[in-house]
Amino acid sequence: MAKDTLSVTDNRTGKSYELPIADGCIRAMDLRQIKTGTQDFGLMTYDPALLNTSICRSTITYIDGDKGVLMYRGYPIEQLAEKSTYLEVAYLLLNGELPGQKQYDEFANSVTTHTFVHENIKSFIEGFRYDAHPMGMLVATVAALSTFYPEAKLVGDRATRRAQMIRLIAKMPTIAAFSYRHSLGMPYVYPVNDLSFAGNFLAMVKRIAEVRYTPNKTLERALDTLFILHADHEQNCSTSAMRQVGSSRVDPYSAVAAATAALYGPLHGGANEAVLRMLKEIGSKDRIPEFIKKVKTGEGKLMGFGHRVYKSYDPRAKRVKQLADEVFEVTGKNPLLDIALELERIALSDDYFVSRKLYPNVDFYSGLIYQAMGFPVDMFPVLFAIPRTAGWLAQWEEMILDEEQKIARPRQIYMGSSKRDYVAMSERK
Ligand code: SDX
Repeated sequence: MAKDTLSVTDNRTGKSYELPIADGCIRAMDLRQIKTGTQDFGLMTYDPALLNTSICRSTITYIDGDKGVLMYRGYPIEQLAEKSTYLEVAYLLLNGELPGQKQYDEFANSVTTHTFVHENIKSFIEGFRYDAHPMGMLVATVAALSTFYPEAKLVGDRATRRAQMIRLIAKMPTIAAFSYRHSLGMPYVYPVNDLSFAGNFLAMVKRIAEVRYTPNKTLERALDTLFILHADHEQNCSTSAMRQVGSSRVDPYSAVAAATAALYGPLHGGANEAVLRMLKEIGSKDRIPEFIKKVKTGEGKLMGFGHRVYKSYDPRAKRVKQLADEVFEVTGKNPLLDIALELERIALSDDYFVSRKLYPNVDFYSGLIYQAMGFPVDMFPVLFAIPRTAGWLAQWEEMILDEEQKIARPRQIYMGSSKRDYVAMSERK
């Protein structure tokens, strides 16, 4: 009769062990009993970059990388992108269920009425150089927010925890918009309460002298859909950073700052910025073969391609590609789109990429939309961080409430010097 166990024999001692298998995993700590003697610490796993290690149990987001499936709380991303709004998806991620009208109105109102930041934040942002990268400003300013809400340290108190979560979801767009306006040397535009989440962000970014800024409905909807597509993605680099940093029971502002820093990297959320720089560097369709050749010789990566989990087309990339056509109807086509489409066509017919299961990911086309909407390239990762805040916070709270979790403290394989005595400077060779 088949049993949910793994039988292992340690050939160093001839001893056998039976390890329980649950949810497709063995517990790493069950290996610790495998020793060669009483002095032996016991077996550990060695898994650099956590390629094959589950760090938690979660009910928030499900991905099937082979089938290109992505679901938030069981709802397929395609349906949410088509039928929902970002704030409704944020509620879903935080609470596990779609809201009723009253629940939604209360949630949306609480976010809307917390979009302002303390006036000191403006002076804080003023401290940055005019050409400071907005992600650097975002990381620092979110961390600084923690100093305005000392009670946020009470992560064990639900009401206090949820109050900070609302503040963070509400204030990320404001900080992002202020950072953008700072880089232009333009006055800040304060949030208004009668615009949608995406519309208010567009107003804070775009409004100049209009008495009232009315966002273009197509662009507002496209941005809101992009926010839905970027809201969560299970244990990616920045989310696992959020969990790891949050496991020390630091306040959520500091943990979100750490997650934002992780997202900033070009291999993660910074990829959308890197894609645009890559397309500009290629410059024209006839230079694509030369670029592809360089990638194959390891001289660079095809940014916006490949994924640790998706070994098929990223379902988000499909929707982003469709959104591009809708946005270009309003803004005019981004001339780099033709290069991107040709690059995808060539890559998806080239064995180097096909054999490595490298497909476009969410970052490949999103930057084309952001650029067509008038955002500078360095704002692209910021546009990723804004919506991902809801996912980070949902995952963070799940970690806080998970009784199996404690402060993260991985082990190592020590490869350094054995014991040696200190040598005075005068006696060193
Ligand atoms: C995001 O994890 C998430 O969920 C992230 C994210 C989210 O929503 O949070 O989906 C958002 O970060 C999307 C990914 C954005 N990053 C990029 O587009 C940057 C380019 N992509 C690569 O750097 C890479 O594909 C990663 C980082 C995304 C995944 O890297 P892995 O899983 O560590 O894969 P790997 O580096 O081990 O690559 C396997 C092989 C290697 O070749 P060989 O050594 O076998 O010869 O594929 C090659 C790699 O060199 N390869 C690429 C490539 N990506 C992988 N070659 C060229 N171009 C690429 N983009």
